Amino acid sequence: MALSAADAKTWSREEVITSPGPILLLGAPGVGKGTQAKALMAAWGIPQISTGDLLRGNVSQGTPLGKMAKAVLDRGELVSDELVNEMVAVRLTRPDTAAGYILDGYPRTLGQAAWVDDHLNGKGPAALPVVAVSIEVGYNQLLRRITGRRTCPVCKSIYNIYLQQPRVDEVCDLDGTALTRRSDDTEEVFEERMRAYEAQTAPVVEHYRARGRFERVDGEQPVNAVTAAVMNAVRRLRS
Ligand code: AP5
Ligand code: MG
Repeated sequence: MALSAADAKTWSREEVITSPGPILLLGAPGVGKGTQAKALMAAWGIPQISTGDLLRGNVSQGTPLGKMAKAVLDRGELVSDELVNEMVAVRLTRPDTAAGYILDGYPRTLGQAAWVDDHLNGKGPAALPVVAVSIEVGYNQLLRRITGRRTCPVCKSIYNIYLQQPRVDEVCDLDGTALTRRSDDTEEVFEERMRAYEAQTAPVVEHYRARGRFERVDGEQPVNAVTAAVMNAVRRLRS
């Protein structure tokens, strides 16, 4: 079953941070960035900003950005820093980011990290510094997560046919919509996404580790345990 807003409500009030500020969720394809971002969003009332979701939205709407990005996503490579930075800058002008926001899957190159450090660190909500949490999961588990993933095209809940099954096969628990599979969730494209991660995003993780305000979380635990670990990490990094 996917994690719902109702699950988040079971957490105690003292776990809620009034001003979470900018949070970076880092990690390889399939570690659970989207799953955890949705849990934090439900618990803390701040938006998830997933550059992958924004790009897929542009592809499905057939925008000029989507037309440029589609082939890149299908190959499992990264879209250019210029396009992605601009997309994030536009999204951050919306007022729902006032208390904080979760950047899911961004930054993932050192060029994007430099943009974050220049434009967001200490300049966003309440002038808080950026904090970074890296979720870590082994290769074989990642492959199972990617090849088994299903998503609700309406409410965007995330499931897995092996690990996080919906109550009824291939149907969303929350709104009854038929689940869909991402076109890049094949083993072949996953391998390319992993190559891009190792070459271009692993240095970003190292950048934030070296700079501080950074924690690693074991992503191989059950979803709720990972959520608790991410929340605890953010609270420590904010204290
Ligand atoms: P993006 O959409 O960001 O994909 P990704 O980084 O490859 O990550 P995923 O979304 O695949 O995984 P996730 O970590 O969100 O895991 P999830 O929670 O879904 O990017 C797609 C593409 O867009 C890129 O390849 C690139 O082309 C482009 N792009 C995006 N951002 C870019 C950027 N900044 N710069 C340039 N290009 C960019 O979970 C996965 C599965 O695991 C699910 O089935 C879930 O149910 C299951 N699961 C999750 N947690 C658990 C758990 N604890 N136990 C068991 N199962 C679990
Ligand atoms: Mg995701």
